[in-house]
Amino acid sequence: MADHINEIKHVASPLARQTLQDTALTSPVAGRKPIRLLPWLQVVKIGGRAIMDRGHEAILPIVDEIRKLLPEHRLLILTGAGIRARHLYSVGLDLGLPVGSLAPLAASEAGQNGHILASLLAPDGVSYIEHPTMANQLSIHFAAARGLVGSAFPPYHHHEFPGSRIPTHRADTGAFLLADALGAAGLTIVEDVDGIYTTDPTGPQGSQAELLSETSAAELAKMEGTLPIDRAMVEVMGTARHIERVQVINGLVPGRLTAALRGEHVGTLIHTSAHKD
Ligand SMILES: Nc1ncnc2c1ncn2[C@@H]1O[C@H](COP(=O)(O)OP(=O)(O)OP(=O)(O)O)[C@@H](O)[C@H]1O
Ligand SMILES: [Mg+2]
Repeated sequence: MADHINEIKHVASPLARQTLQDTALTSPVAGRKPIRLLPWLQVVKIGGRAIMDRGHEAILPIVDEIRKLLPEHRLLILTGAGIRARHLYSVGLDLGLPVGSLAPLAASEAGQNGHILASLLAPDGVSYIEHPTMANQLSIHFAAARGLVGSAFPPYHHHEFPGSRIPTHRADTGAFLLADALGAAGLTIVEDVDGIYTTDPTGPQGSQAELLSETSAAELAKMEGTLPIDRAMVEVMGTARHIERVQVINGLVPGRLTAALRGEHVGTLIHTSAHKD
């Protein structure tokens, strides 16, 4: 019996005796920068409303541009939900559905847009992948294909924060969290406007809207009014580990996505809180 006790393996762990809530104690271990899982990956979020809802006039040129980009970049293309999710929110809210029930329904609309894009890019070896595949098998899929498509929504479902009746973690937030977790080379958000303006350029004050060529997550957090990206994305950019900047571009202008992926400044650059390696 005594021998048996002596064989017990004690696992030394610097966190074993610490509360995980005290950052002064955890930061020597948890404060280090995580490794980049897929440092060569470019993540592109395609707007549901801005691009997909416009049909073939907007979709076919961007599909053509993506097709030409595949030999140059390995792309994870994530789609937003667009108008069908907005209809769904209004029906669901009218029925009294909780936010945790609306989140997966909206995510499935984003997925439908992804299926459309993936079908159009199928001849180029691109296919649609579900969230569990994105979570566990991205690299094997990228070993077989230059591009993959998925829903940009995070898979929070019933875990969505209950503060708002409309899910706060939508497609932009999901795309950013994924790109940062993977340590991707970059994230580009494709809209139908040239970038982020001081006020909605298509709204009542549109004539006074000025394009922000460069801004930061901290500045956007202070900005009142609407943005073309989720407010929750602005929040998570404040704690980013890898993605130092995100570019918001106009996908209706041919060549903008190509230029953005080549590192050119063709929209609004948003600086996050992440620092260079
Ligand atoms: N400050 C702002 N700067 C630029 N555009 C803005 C601003 N505020 C509102 N907008 C509007 O946001 C629109 C884009 O809407 P939205 O971001 O909901 O579309 P989307 O990204 O395609 O949607 P989804 O999240 O479903 O993918 C732009 O066409 C623009 O009119
Ligand atoms: Mg948007």
